[in-house]
Amino acid sequence: MHIIKKNNLLFMTKNLNIYVATMTGTALMVADEIEDFCKTEGINTNIIEMDVLEPKNLENLDSPILIVSSTYGQGDVPDGSKNFYNKLKSSNMNLEHIKYAVFGLGDMTYKDTFAYGGKKFDHLFLELKANRIGEPFYHDASDGSLPEEEAVNWFKEKVFKLI
Ligand SMILES: Cc1cc2nc3c(=O)[nH]c(=O)nc-3n(C[C@H](O)[C@H](O)[C@H](O)COP(=O)(O)O)c2cc1C
Repeated sequence: MHIIKKNNLLFMTKNLNIYVATMTGTALMVADEIEDFCKTEGINTNIIEMDVLEPKNLENLDSPILIVSSTYGQGDVPDGSKNFYNKLKSSNMNLEHIKYAVFGLGDMTYKDTFAYGGKKFDHLFLELKANRIGEPFYHDASDGSLPEEEAVNWFKEKVFKLI
């Protein structure tokens, strides 16, 4: 929550960082749909692909994070996010000041590693003492549902009021 002053009036604004890890763009599409919903609610969003993130970007962050990550390889985070994930994992950072939620994308065909990308980010943020908002949602691409629809419904019901 930020307070801004305009025409001598004080306004409260909500901000949300959406951190995306994707290989073929589905997670980015999910982020775009959540951004569209946020716009209708007056929440400012900042979509960032994890490829360009460094752990230091989390140091003074004062607005919540929505992590949207798919899964590749054998239960790995997407290639472009590996640098951020590995650096953060070996960082010993304290993320007590951060609130976060996780929407993971996976496919139950890979049942032994289902949605491990999102699950790995969730475990890492918990390990570093960040505060989770709501329960993570893990989307199964094999069940025929649309990830962007499931994501917006989940976000509306479980996350939106808590950011
Ligand atoms: C080569 C390959 C490996 C995958 N490995 C896994 C996996 O281990 N676990 C899982 O749950 N999903 C796995 N998936 C499914 C993707 O995570 C899923 O299709 C997701 O929606 C892709 O999102 P993206 O377009 O944002 O990368 C894999 C998909 C591909 C093509």
